[in-house]
Amino acid sequence: MRITDTSDLWWKSAVVYCLDIETFLDADGDGIGDIEGLTRRIDYLAELGITCLWLMPFYPSPDRDDGYDITDYLGVDERLGDVGRVVELLRLAHDRGIRVIADLVVNHTSDQHPWFKASRKEKDPAKNPYRDYYIWRSDEPGDTSDEVVFPDQEDSIWEKDDKTGEWYLHHFYKHQPDLNLDHPEVVDELLRAIGFWLQVGFDGFRVDGVPFFGQSGEKEGRDDLVDPHVFMRTLREFISRRHGDAITLGEVNLPHEEQLAFFGGEDGNEFHMQFDFIGMQATYLSMARADARPLVKALKARPELHVANQWATFLRNHDELTLDKLTEKERQEVFEAFGPEPEMQVYDRGLKRRLPPMLGGDPRRVRMAYSLLFSLPGTPTLYFGEEIGMGEDLAAEGRMAVRTPMQWSDTKNGGFSSAAPSKLVQAVVGDGYGPEHVNVMSQLHDPDSLLSWIRRLIEIRRACPELGWGELEILEHDAGHAVLAHRLSLEDSAIVALHNLASDPVTVTVDCGGFGADARVVDLITHEVLDLTSGGVESALDGYGVRWLRVRPAGDLAVP
Ligand code: NOJ
Repeated sequence: MRITDTSDLWWKSAVVYCLDIETFLDADGDGIGDIEGLTRRIDYLAELGITCLWLMPFYPSPDRDDGYDITDYLGVDERLGDVGRVVELLRLAHDRGIRVIADLVVNHTSDQHPWFKASRKEKDPAKNPYRDYYIWRSDEPGDTSDEVVFPDQEDSIWEKDDKTGEWYLHHFYKHQPDLNLDHPEVVDELLRAIGFWLQVGFDGFRVDGVPFFGQSGEKEGRDDLVDPHVFMRTLREFISRRHGDAITLGEVNLPHEEQLAFFGGEDGNEFHMQFDFIGMQATYLSMARADARPLVKALKARPELHVANQWATFLRNHDELTLDKLTEKERQEVFEAFGPEPEMQVYDRGLKRRLPPMLGGDPRRVRMAYSLLFSLPGTPTLYFGEEIGMGEDLAAEGRMAVRTPMQWSDTKNGGFSSAAPSKLVQAVVGDGYGPEHVNVMSQLHDPDSLLSWIRRLIEIRRACPELGWGELEILEHDAGHAVLAHRLSLEDSAIVALHNLASDPVTVTVDCGGFGADARVVDLITHEVLDLTSGGVESALDGYGVRWLRVRPAGDLAVP
């Protein structure tokens, strides 16, 4: 591996930041965040150190699923701006060293999309070229209530359309009909949209809802209607032909074996990256138990990937914090620890909370959690507001609890908008996590703030290719199960990270691995140079303490 490989496969050592334009910054004072507002904050993001910005859907939409219900793949929601503003935004972001990826929602459209409106008009495909853009059946479906994604709103993945008396497929809400991904014209339409946004300047896509691309009704024993891998390879080949540097980041919440298949197995020719849902859930179980073993098990269970593939690690995203891959007992443990009240839970499988309130607001624990995220093998992905420790609004409906406006200052509406509070796209958090207590301005120049801590972690991370590329080893020690000690080795350098998941201080001795008795060990956070005792290093960790050590052969200049 050469250092230049890190720019070719840039996503392997990127730091991703996700945001929704409508809740980031409102520049024109109408209560809705806009592209102009985001453009004004690109330097904030550059200073934070992120290298890849993921924009949640910004397309025209009736907004019944926060933009994941699209009516025009080639447009921009006019409340946010227009394509010209997108171009300006991308140009500025690129100038500041930030790549930008867009949410790509191809599993379904809105029922208000002109294709669906046309599809439902006439059931004979010979008379209606749009009929087969979606998936229709004429026989009555059986009970599919356990296949729906949103059990609080839907009880079937099929909806009867009165106009033609047939049922259409929708894995998500009934207002989001699934597209027929086996239809050549649908695929062509989608490729044209992808080609369009690449031409505009995007650097890739976060691909929504991948587990449903097969489009089967599992319960009814139907085989996949579409080979999702053929579809994915078609997308991937097209994207790579048009823009060799562009990535696909898949939302593929499936067991490891199926994830591996969506990476393209040994060939690595489907998704470049996928979110590590299993690792994320194990992290919460480990934090709840103050026991690193669930996380270790999940890390060890990760299948080996092609060198060009990568896991995207995260602690939070814009959806419910899903715990669906835990056992019922484990899920209840996490609920008990981090969201015991029914109002904190959603869909019987997840939490509608952000991290700091879940951790009781304990700054040591919050910092430890982000240190863990940034030290794990993979590409860390932040959801906006995490860097300042924003909380949730439990009064908001379902997943909207974690989609409140960005808190810039302690002024009106947290500095998000000058509009009357009643006009805001969503209410600002109002309790102890409101803008008076949690905001960018108060943390920006405070070296002890969470924002400064995250900025520091990103800075270190960006200078340590070991973290995105290195080989993982879980280190043995006798300091108890609350301590995770792991090493990421890359050629003649290694990072050893120590994390104490418990509140009691502890001393841990670990082997720094193969660099000889006079290896050079530097604490990357404090810059302290440490002594090695017989190849190992002894560290005192506070309650929820962390340590990042870089180990290199003696005589190494250790720059950076
Ligand atoms: C997954 C997205 O993350 C979620 O927010 C959305 O509701 C569904 N896919 C449907 O698009």
